[in-house]
Amino acid sequence: MSSEPEIKVANYADGKNKIVVRPHEYDGIQEYDQTLPNWWLFIFFAALVFFPVCWLGYYQFGLMRPDGEVIDAKMAEIQKAKAKELDAMLAKLDNSVFLTKWGKDEEVIANGRELYMANCTACHGQKLDAKMDLGNGQMVPLPGLSLVDGEWKYGKEPMDSFKLINLGTPPDSTGHNGARMEAWGQKLPPMKIVELVAFIMSENQKEFFGSEK
Ligand code: HEC
Repeated sequence: MSSEPEIKVANYADGKNKIVVRPHEYDGIQEYDQTLPNWWLFIFFAALVFFPVCWLGYYQFGLMRPDGEVIDAKMAEIQKAKAKELDAMLAKLDNSVFLTKWGKDEEVIANGRELYMANCTACHGQKLDAKMDLGNGQMVPLPGLSLVDGEWKYGKEPMDSFKLINLGTPPDSTGHNGARMEAWGQKLPPMKIVELVAFIMSENQKEFFGSEK
């Protein structure tokens, strides 16, 4: 019997296991009037303190920076570092470097092939002809341009391809049947774009190097 909580109608329960009901009653329903547990009160008051501290710190005095701002600043830093890397690469890159060096470097070409197979086949095809073999001999055209037909919409020089892959379809172009190339420079560092161009050149031996391999 002693474990049964004592029910009383008072202002509030003044101890554990005491149940207090408020005097009013509606449709036979009464309302408890208990003190809240300390853990609950602790969180409640902690939240009351937490809010003004954050509000003042983040929005009034600028002592703390909102996550969005921190990320924006980080992104700007990364973009700057990328631009610097690109500038450094462009300073030592021209058509003849492609023709005499990168376009003939087997390792660079192999890296480019790997990158191409991972990123570019969906639109330019396994054989760079912008077609996909359905397996029954039927060829389906893909959204990209052929990179082995000797036609270069954006210029035939290696640097033209570098620029296009880096920056994507220029803003003033409507693309190819409405499809545009994305700016791979956003995802790949300049050296990887060099590798891609070297690979594309190696798949066009005659055009760039005057004879088949
Ligand atoms: C989502 C489809 C898609 C993917 C993936 C894609 N491309 Fe393209 N690419 C296109 C389209 C579409 C064009 C034509 C753009 C235009 O006409 O403005 C194009 C054009 C090009 C051209 C210019 C060809 C010319 O005739 O001047 C090159 C070079 C090229 N892509 C290389 C690449 C490389 C390298 C990759 C992989 C890193 C790649 N593309 C991935 C769709 C794609």
